[in-house]
This record gives sequence, structure tokens and C-alpha cells, in this order.
Amino acid sequence: MHYFEYRDGELFAERVPVRRIAREVGTPAYIYSLATLRRHYRVFDQAFARAPHLVCFSVKSNSNLAVLRTFAREGSGFDIVSGGELFRALKAGADPKKIVFSGVGKKKEEIEYALNAAILMFNVESEQELIFLNDVSRGLGKRAPISLRVNPDVDPETHPYISTGMKKSKFGIDIKRSAELYKKALSLGNLEVIGVDCHIGSQLTSVGPFVDALSRIREYLDRVLVGYLRKEGANIRYLDLGGGLGIRYKDEEPPHPEEYAAALIHGLEGLDVTLILEPGRVMVGNAGILVTEVLYLKETDEKKFVVVDGGMNDLIRPALYGSYQAIQPVVERKSETIVADVVGPICESGDFFAKDREVPRPQPGDLLAIMSAGAYGFTMASNYNAHPKPPEVLVDGDNFYVVRARESFDDLIKGEVIPPVLQ
Ligand code: LLP
Repeated sequence: MHYFEYRDGELFAERVPVRRIAREVGTPAYIYSLATLRRHYRVFDQAFARAPHLVCFSVKSNSNLAVLRTFAREGSGFDIVSGGELFRALKAGADPKKIVFSGVGKKKEEIEYALNAAILMFNVESEQELIFLNDVSRGLGKRAPISLRVNPDVDPETHPYISTGMKKSKFGIDIKRSAELYKKALSLGNLEVIGVDCHIGSQLTSVGPFVDALSRIREYLDRVLVGYLRKEGANIRYLDLGGGLGIRYKDEEPPHPEEYAAALIHGLEGLDVTLILEPGRVMVGNAGILVTEVLYLKETDEKKFVVVDGGMNDLIRPALYGSYQAIQPVVERKSETIVADVVGPICESGDFFAKDREVPRPQPGDLLAIMSAGAYGFTMASNYNAHPKPPEVLVDGDNFYVVRARESFDDLIKGEVIPPVLQ
């Protein structure tokens, strides 16, 4: 559900014509709908209303300050994976007591920053990290609240690059070793054991793998951990099930948050914990589009190419995962349709938004909307081929705001220096 709709053949973001935004800010440009962001948060949060829970929006999916502020105002916490994401979340007004810190490679400065900010918990991913976190905490005279991120070895049935909870993945701790590591955590002195965490993957389109992961953790908790940990004086009061709920890009039919929540809450029965969820894509994916302008229609004997001004530098998902993004004309055109690749200006054959896609024959200057671009769009953008990053625009009803300016050529060389030897 989102608020990008056609009126009289023209695409609107809420009540603003996308064409007007493109005229004022140029292309390519990301456009987000505030009403959609709010709606997604509320639907998701409401779905869990029956259970003690905390929604921690996954900052990696969209880290624009205005987007983070929107969720913070709704009461959201945040899932972060770096010092930079912590900085962004705090700048946006996040409550540090609602921040969880995941990731396999936390550095000393990042750990210190998070300890000083007094975040809710660290999701620890290895034995060495556990020991290191204890040392850094001791150095600051603090105790770090922790969960162990366990790896339940469940196949999330998604793209291998975004599948994280199987035995061979770099993430998490083998669930069978977790009792041993909890024991270690309790013995170290500067750690406070408060939870269990897992995240099995992203863009999941059925509840099955989530339920399997939960039941494996549950079984383990019931059998080994809870009794043992209670005896040792630890209090497991959070169960973090990560993010991963998918969205519709093409014809997927992911479960509604209600269905997802019902399945998880059912699996939690009798367990006295606060559930933490780390949704990213489902909050922002369909709340954003990337608008790009057609530069040329290039026809060869073999193929047709619609060359647009946005590229893999702006939105890398199709190039990196071969993923599908719907492409719609900003102003509907009653021309014949053609089958073409929609490609960007980058000097790589992997630079495409669509392959062999049926589109209305475009004219140079036409605007296209790449739909469902709000998650892992701008956050994965780069300056490859020295393209400044596009602006981000937030629409609210009849108004729109540039919430991140288009980068300039000067931004491209910020921090670069020609050393004396070359002067
Ligand atoms: N929590 C953790 C620990 C994660 O690693 C992730 C995503 C999330 C939460 C949020 O997952 P979500 O609800 O968004 O599925 N760039 C890829 C997706 C990478 C996901 C990485 N981890 C893409 O564009 O599809």
C-alpha cells in the first residue's frame, strides 16, 4: 500500500505531481511519501499490539534524517550496524534506549560510541567480539547489555546475497554453541546478558522460515538456556527476531504484517520476553520511487535500449541482485509498446534497471518512475563514474521538501588533496 497513484494519466506522489517535483529538483531524484512511511510504521506496530514489543527500524534500508525522524516520532527504535548509523539515528532524535547494534565487524571506536550513548543492546556475532566488547566496556568502566545473535540454520528462500541465517553464512553464532558463549559472557564481568537475537535474511515472502527460526530458538531456550541462565543470574528479557519481511516488487505475495505478527506471537506463547523486530524494507520500500529522465532511445539490429539519466550508481539492486523493479511512465503515453532494456549512463553492461521490459515507446525528455525504490536505494548509491548523488525529496500532502540536496561537483572531490610532490 502506498500513495503513488495516477490521476488523469499522470503519476502523483500524494497530492503532488511527480512531474512538478522533477521540474524543480531535476533528475534523477528519490521521492518519498510521508503518509506512506507513517502508515507502514503504524500497520506494522499495530500488528504486534497484543505482545510486548519494540520496533527497531533498520537504518541500513533508508538512513535519511527526515525518514528516521518520521519513525522516531512514531515511537520507533532503530537497528544500527555502524557508528555512522548511530550518528544518523541520534541526529534524527532517536531514543538511545531503543537502539540495537548488530553486525559482524564492530570496531573499538564504534563500540565506545555506542556504550557512551547507552544504547539498549549489542547483538554479538562471535566469541572474539564478545571478549573484545567486554574489554572495551571495562576500559570505560561500563557494562554492555548484550544478546547473542544465534544462527538457527534456516533457509529463508531468498537471494543468496541477502540470506543470513544458514550454517555457512558469516552471521551469528551456531545455536549449539550459544550456551557455552552465554556462560562465557556471564563470567567476563563487564557484560549484562539480556537477550537472544537472530536475523535470517531479507525479502522473505512467506512466514514459514520465520516460524522455523523462532521454533528452533524457542526449543533451545526452553531446553537449555532459560533454566541455566536464570540459575546463573542472567535475565533473558528480549527476543530479537530481526527484520526480513518482504514486499511486492512484481508479483510476490508476501504475508501481511498481521499474518507475520500472528505467527510470531503464537510462537512466543508462554515466554516472558519483549519481542524486538528490525524491519527495514517493509517500512520504506514501497514508500519511495526514483524518478529518471529518458535521454535517448537507442535501437540496434539486436535490441532496443532506453537510456536514462539514472544508473546503477543511484540504484544498484537490479545490477547487484538481478532484482526486478517496476518502471512506470510519469505521464502515461498512448504509444505503441516496445521491448527494451532500460539502462543508465554508467560504463558497465551491468548498469541496467530492466532487461527486455515492455514499455511504451518513449521520447527523449519523458520521465520514468522506478517504483519500490525506498529501501536499499539511496543508502547503496555511490559516486561511480563521478556522478553526484541524487537529491531526496519528502512529500507531505500538497507539499514537498528537499530533505537531501543533490550533490555538487565540489562534493565529489571533498577531502581530496593534491600532495606537495605533485604541485
Ligand atoms: N536486521 C539485520 C541484522 C539485517 O542484517 C537486516 C538486513 C535487517 C534487520 C533488515 O532487513 P529487511 O527488513 O530490510 O529485510 N541490500 C539488500 C538487502 C540487504 C539486507 C541486509 N540486512 C537488498 O537491496 O535487497
